[in-house]
Amino acid sequence: MPDDRAIGVFDSGIGGLTVLAALAQVLPAESLLYLGDTARVPYGTRSPRTVLRYASQVADHLVAHDVKAMVVACNTASTHALDRLSACGAELGIPVFGVIEPGVRQAVARTRSGRVVVLGTEGTVRGGRYQALLREAGVTCQAIACPLFVSLAEEGWHTGEIARMVAAKYLSGIDPEADTVILGCTHFPLLRDAISARMPHADLVDSASATAAAVAEALADQDLLAEGGDPGLGFLVTDNLERFHSVGTRFLGRTPEPVELVDLVAGVGPFTRVAG
Ligand code: DGL
Repeated sequence: MPDDRAIGVFDSGIGGLTVLAALAQVLPAESLLYLGDTARVPYGTRSPRTVLRYASQVADHLVAHDVKAMVVACNTASTHALDRLSACGAELGIPVFGVIEPGVRQAVARTRSGRVVVLGTEGTVRGGRYQALLREAGVTCQAIACPLFVSLAEEGWHTGEIARMVAAKYLSGIDPEADTVILGCTHFPLLRDAISARMPHADLVDSASATAAAVAEALADQDLLAEGGDPGLGFLVTDNLERFHSVGTRFLGRTPEPVELVDLVAGVGPFTRVAG
C-alpha cells in the first residue's frame, strides 16, 4: 500500500541540503521534511557521545512529525549514531538510512587502483567507519580531516583561490595512486572544483546521489513509496532562520522554504531513551 507520509532528513545544519536535493530528484513524488540542527552545528568537532545525543533528539522530533523513514544526511552523525538510530528505528518500523555505506559502495565499484581517499570532518575520520568498510571491501584507504572546508562552504568561499590553496594544503600528502575520492562530508560537494584542481584525474564520489538511490531502492522494496500527487516540502531549523535561508540557497540550488524555527526537547522520545 502506498505511504504518503514524509521522509525525514536531518543534518547538523545546512550541508544535508545537498542530500535533500538528490532525494527530491530521485524521488519526486515523496514529501520531504528537513531538519537542520543549526543551533548546534558543527557536529564534526564534537565527541561521539554528544553527536549521538544530538542526533537522537533530532530523530525524536522527526518521529513526532510522523515521518515514515529517516535519512541521516550528515556523515558525522552517520559515523557516531547510525547503528543506534537504526536499531531503534527498526523497533518503530521506521527505516533509517545513513550516507556512508552508499558512498563506500560507489567508491568500491569505481576504483581501478583499489586505493581510495576519504575526506571528512575530524569526527568522521576519527570514528573510522569509512575506513573499516573500505578495508572490509579490500580497498586501501587514506582518510584526511578537512575541517576548514566546512567553513569555506558556509562562507561561500568554496570556489576560487582561497579554496584551492586550502585544498592544496590538505591534500599535499595524498596517496598518488588513489584514483577515487569520497566527499565524506555533506559540505564537500561544493568544493568539487578546488579538490579536482589538486587531483585532476581522481573520480569524486558524492554520497548524496548514492544515498538517494539507496533510499529509493529500499523504500520500493519495503512498499513505502508515496502514491504521488502533491508532495510536500518543509524545513525546520533550531536557530538562525535567516542564515539558513541565505546559505541554504547555495546548497539546495533554490531557496529552502517554508522554514520553521523549532526547539528540541531533551530526553522525551524513543530515540533519546535508547541513546541514554
Ligand atoms: N554535516 C556534517 C558532516 O557531513 C558537516 C558539518 C558539521 O561538522 O556538522 O559531517
